[in-house]
Amino acid sequence: MSEHKVTLWPSGEVLEVSSEESLLVQLKKAGKKIKSGCGGCATCSDCVVIVKSGEMNLSPQTFEELRLLGNVFHITKERLSCQTRLTGDVTLDITGHEKTGAAGKVGKTPPPRGQKSTKTIIKKRDDIVRAEIESKEKSQEKPSGDWYRHWENEGDDASKPKKFGGNKRVKPFTFNDNDE
Ligand code: FES
Repeated sequence: MSEHKVTLWPSGEVLEVSSEESLLVQLKKAGKKIKSGCGGCATCSDCVVIVKSGEMNLSPQTFEELRLLGNVFHITKERLSCQTRLTGDVTLDITGHEKTGAAGKVGKTPPPRGQKSTKTIIKKRDDIVRAEIESKEKSQEKPSGDWYRHWENEGDDASKPKKFGGNKRVKPFTFNDNDE
């Protein structure tokens, strides 16, 4: 039974983990709280962990994992801990599992210090209806500018003669008697 090291990001805590069982089981044995709605059947995607380094030391993605997460590991760096075994040392981010509520969604990085976290705004039905009416009124407003439906304003300048084409006058054709 080979032992590998799992370094937890950002605390730097090091855990000894074997390659015999899945990462989910090993992390739970080590006393870490990892969410798992389906109990390791690869149907809930709650047990996602973010791989900070050492992705080459993880077992290849299973069909079930690919079906759930898609083929986007190179972008998200997310793996299902219930489907993953270690073949070497890795650094993992499991901070999402310690949080509760919407902030606890794994893969959602916390906002930088000094910035407010994005909250879900629950609007009342009246507010939504009012906002819809306002947006409709706004869209019906005539935008300023000379070019908006300019053909409707042409009647204002009826006194001025209309110009067609360019400004150059066509020269009348004349016979030159001297040529003959
Ligand atoms: S525990 Fe549900 S997908 Fe891993």
